Amino acid sequence: NYIASDVTALVEHTKTIVYMDDFQIGVIGRGGISIYNRNEEEIEYEVKTIDWNVNAAEKGGYEHFMMKEIIEQPKVLRDTIRPRLKDNEVVLDDFSLSDEQLKSVDKVYITACGSAYHAGMVGKYVIERLCRLPVEIDVASEFRYRDPIVTENTLVVVISQSGETADTLAALKEAKEKGAHTLAIVNVVSSAIAKAADDVLYTWAGPEIAVATTKAYSAQLAALYLLAIYIGRRLGRVDDALNAELISQLNALPEKVETLINDRSAIQNLATVFYGEKNMFFIGRNIDYASALEGSLKLKEISYIHSEAYAAGELKHGTISLIEEGRPVIALACQNALADKLISNVREVKARGALVIGLSQDDMDISESVDYSISIPSTHPLFTASLSVIPLQLFGYYVAASNGCDIDKPRNLAKSVTVE
Ligand code: M6R
Repeated sequence: NYIASDVTALVEHTKTIVYMDDFQIGVIGRGGISIYNRNEEEIEYEVKTIDWNVNAAEKGGYEHFMMKEIIEQPKVLRDTIRPRLKDNEVVLDDFSLSDEQLKSVDKVYITACGSAYHAGMVGKYVIERLCRLPVEIDVASEFRYRDPIVTENTLVVVISQSGETADTLAALKEAKEKGAHTLAIVNVVSSAIAKAADDVLYTWAGPEIAVATTKAYSAQLAALYLLAIYIGRRLGRVDDALNAELISQLNALPEKVETLINDRSAIQNLATVFYGEKNMFFIGRNIDYASALEGSLKLKEISYIHSEAYAAGELKHGTISLIEEGRPVIALACQNALADKLISNVREVKARGALVIGLSQDDMDISESVDYSISIPSTHPLFTASLSVIPLQLFGYYVAASNGCDIDKPRNLAKSVTVE
């Protein structure tokens, strides 16, 4: 028998797991295990079988888990999306709100930490657009301490890969205490957050080992798209034509991600130009702003290069004073409807000497306006984050590799942040 704080440590030894709850005491020995409650009374426990295999927790020939996990993303997207599609409709069996309860929801709150928060930001745009419900988003460490306005008519969505993040768990408990219906988008089965939420939407990403999240983030985005389409449909706000368009674009995402990953040598080359930089900026609008935040976090957490992400329209309210000759700016122009606005921001930074890498959909050529251009396959505007994040993950990875950084275990960081 073994004891561990995370199932990934156990998969090479066993598939049968007993999850312990808070305040329980476990005694393990050669002959068996016993679990006691806080009154030292022995309690019955449930033995669960996990379906993660050893290969999923090994590097499989890659130099780093992060690259292996980047490459797994098409599969992860398929695994998260396809079981929830039936006859071209999103079916979320685990969502327990009745029609009447759903109709009484007057606000959605999304709360999470780090990259999961960035996924939540994308979710805000998508849910607002498809469900026409107001969506508020907050980092869990703020939400839990600000007496948020949450009622029994609020749907609170928490997002977490590990399902163990202390602030997210506390935010979830706070929301439940205020009477909200809670839905957790979680990767790890039977984690504390999965157990505490009213409903769980699992992201079937498999074990994620690298500290920098990649495949779990992509799966969170997919889960949020499914949730938005599902609620939008049930509320009668997504009509048949839009539903068909969204489902077809959703189904096409894994192949498009695959194309971007296969073409990664261009990003590798770009990293050789920029790896020595000390400061970089990411800019974007709407969903591209959320992606800019995620790209910036990826870069800084594994390469230790200082980077900031800004809503592009905010530049002239202060940040543009930091732009000088040769300063790298990564400009996301993947929202075609806002591309003109973004290009005018690009002109502003270029006029101050910035070196600009531009990202856009392949049906929107911005190469004339930027120094280096990267294109992503075109998709529905609500889904661009799933494609734009791939070159950004690869950029962070290759820049960190060129700098000789410990990519899978960056300094000062832990995979699960189980303390405040
Ligand atoms: O396990 P969680 O999704 O709750 O973790 C949240 C953050 O700690 C996590 O996303 C963190 O920001 C990642 N290292 C980013 O790559």
